[in-house]
Order: sequence, then C-alpha cells, then structure tokens
Amino acid sequence: MYSSDFGKDFLWGVATAAAQIEGAANSYGKGPSIWDTFSKRTGKIKKGHNPSEACDFYHRYPEDIALVKTLGFNVFRFSIAWSRIFPIGHGTLNKEGVAFYHNVIDECLKQGVTPMITLYHWDLPEALSKEGGWTAFGINSHFNEFATFCAKEYGDKVKHWIVINEPFGFTSLGYMLGVHAPGQNGVSNFFDAALHTAIAQADGGKILRAEVKNAVIGTAFSCSEIIPYTQSSQDIIAAKRVDALMNRFFLEPTLGMGFPTADWDVLEKFAISHSTWRHQERMRFDFDFIGVQNYFPLVIKYNAFIPVVQAWEVKAKNRRAPHTAMGWEVNADSFYRIIKQFAAYPQVKNIMVTENGAYFQDHLVDGKINDQARIEYFEAYLAAMLKAKNEGINITGYLAWTLMDNFEWAEGYQARFGLVYNDFKTQQRTIKQSGYWWQDFLSK
Ligand code: NOJ
Repeated sequence: MYSSDFGKDFLWGVATAAAQIEGAANSYGKGPSIWDTFSKRTGKIKKGHNPSEACDFYHRYPEDIALVKTLGFNVFRFSIAWSRIFPIGHGTLNKEGVAFYHNVIDECLKQGVTPMITLYHWDLPEALSKEGGWTAFGINSHFNEFATFCAKEYGDKVKHWIVINEPFGFTSLGYMLGVHAPGQNGVSNFFDAALHTAIAQADGGKILRAEVKNAVIGTAFSCSEIIPYTQSSQDIIAAKRVDALMNRFFLEPTLGMGFPTADWDVLEKFAISHSTWRHQERMRFDFDFIGVQNYFPLVIKYNAFIPVVQAWEVKAKNRRAPHTAMGWEVNADSFYRIIKQFAAYPQVKNIMVTENGAYFQDHLVDGKINDQARIEYFEAYLAAMLKAKNEGINITGYLAWTLMDNFEWAEGYQARFGLVYNDFKTQQRTIKQSGYWWQDFLSK
C-alpha cells in the first residue's frame, strides 16, 4: 500500500495546534490563554509542565515546515492562537501576532505546502474565560469577531479551513470534568458551553463562506466507535447514550438535525432549558468536509453509580486489548466502522481524517528512534481507511497527528505523538523511523 492507492488528489498532511507547538506564550504581544493559566494550577498538568516554550515553533517555523516537506506531506494544519491576534479576545489587535501567521503561511506557500488553518484549537484567551468563556452568551460575538478578522486577513492566501477542533473534547474535559482548561466542572457548565460552541461552529463556517473566495471549509469532530460490553439491554442503552454524547452531539446540529435528544431524557431536558430548537437553524452549516479524528473505540458498560450518563468505560488494558502508551485501544477495524458511521448521514458530502496517530514510548538509541509500533499503527489504520474509500466512501484527505512531539495538554511533554522526536531541552528534532516510513509511503 502506497499513497498513490488513494488517488492523486488525496490530501496528505500533518496536524498541529498553536498551544502545543508555538511557545513564546508570554511574548511578542500575545495575551495569556486559558492553557497558560491552567498550567500554573498545581497538579493539573503532569510533572508541572506548561506550554510557555513548547517546541519553540514560533522561532523555528521555517525549519519545521521544511520537515513537513522532507517527510513528503503536502498539507500543514496549524491553528491560530486567538490571544496572539486579540490579546484580550476582542478589540485591540496585536500586529506582531497577525504578522507571525502571515509568515507561517508565506513559508508554507514558498515551500509548496498547502496551509490549513484551524480557527479554534482550545486556547481561549484568558480574558474571555474571566467573563465565563464558552459558558457565556457573549462568547459568540467575540468568536465571530475573531473568525471574521482571520478570514479577511488570511483568506486570500489560505483556502482550507477548520472552524473548531473537537468540540466535545474541550467542552467535556474543560467544562464538565475539569481536567482540561479552564478546569470547570458540572453538567450545567457543559451544556452552556456546548450550545455556544455548536453555534460558533456554524457561525464560523458562514463567516468563512462569506469572506473567503473558493474556501474549502470543514470542522473537526472527535469520534469513537462505541461498543456495548455485553449484549444486555442495559449495556446497549448505556452505549447509545455515550454514542449520542461523543459522536452525535455536535455533528447532528451542524447537519440541521438539532441535538440528539430523542432517546435520552437528560438531553431532552437540556434542549428544553436551553431552547435549543430556537437555534436549530443557526447551528446548521453545510460544511464542505466533515473532519473526523479517531484514536480508539470505547467499550461501555452500564453503571448506575456514574451520574447522568450511567455508563462506564471498560479499559483496553482490562480487556487485554492492544493499546498505546496512552491506554487507548489500537483497533483499525473500529476506525473503518466509525468512518462509515459518519459517512452514513446523507448530508455529509465528504470526510477528511483530520487527525489520527499514536503515543508510544520512544527511545532514542544511537541517535535513532525505532518506533516500529507506530509504523504498524499507521499501516493498519491507513489500510482500514483505504478499505472504506474503496467501498465508495468519499474520503478526501488524511492528516497524521502529529508532526513532532509536543505539549500534550494535561499529559505535558511526556506523551509523544510525533513523527519527529523533539528534545525539549535543546529543541533538536530527530526524524523517527515512522517519519521515514511516511516518507517512503508518500513517495509512491
Ligand atoms: C486531539 C486533539 O485535537 C489534539 O490536540 C491532541 O493532542 C490529540 N487528540 C492527541 O490526544
């Protein structure tokens, strides 16, 4: 299997995010983001790590874009740090920040790499968080100001856009479970944040459509096949609830179907209390592609003691299933099935895999990282994607997560997902064997 098996127009890229790679978090006029402040709270990030230096991409972007090219990819996905453009989230602009993204884009174009911008990849300006962040009604007008600015400023040069990265990821981890920034808890925070995020997702799409000529606009959803632990009706129903939350909750409003409230009273109550039907039209947008980001399936068991969702994950290691160093099950067949689940909606025109990858413990031996497990992971997942494509599913691209080891949110710098190893003390990059594997795969 080689890249040519996917057709000549297929997009091959690597995905990254501002807070995970840029560093220069407190310089060149950038305002603090919620990850800068969250990482100062004791115990929130493993080993007390923080994103202030990260991969120092801010100073090293020409070499890093050259690496994208060396590996043979033709797309570089990166996100714009909102607080680098608007230090307090709105109003006053930071010209240096604006120029920085021009430089990154120009460098991509110069090196023959297509830039793809994510508008929001989790690093909300701290100043907006103080006003309630995604839970506050006012967030939508601020987001629209930011989206409009970026579309107008960069839209002549950048045609590929992703509005929001993993809405379920940051609203659940950040506003319900408190393990990601801004560290809030509670179902009510989650539902408030979810509604505003679903609105922003569609608003962003509409803004890009209006401002950017010939734009190719998508948004990126986390997704996981949800497998009931047994065939008992309790496990099956629990699995359906998790599926509604993790796979359908943000996708269906986008497709004009509203939130998936029908079979679950908790979601029904949320819809009533938030009058979500009033927003149904506003949450809809006809995206050019739907981004799917898959890492693992989840096996779900009914558990009455878990509030609200009454479901519990049976972890891969307890089932003796193969898993990555993150504990995430390696299961390429389930990648194939979740692609099919997303593609089954008649409104979904095409799918782009906007993230997929794995963290395995890497060891630098004699200047080499022989990450065979990661190579096998990619081989299996790409074969599964090819199978779906050959069955007629319209898949237009694949972006590997990620170019280089970086700041993996609450896991800090320990969880290495890169195709390129990064020494965070010296910032020296070393291409892993998986990177060379990609180089070969993409050359044919
Ligand atoms: C999804 C997120 O978008 C990305 O930021 C993260 O690093 C990867 N998953 C791996 O956890």
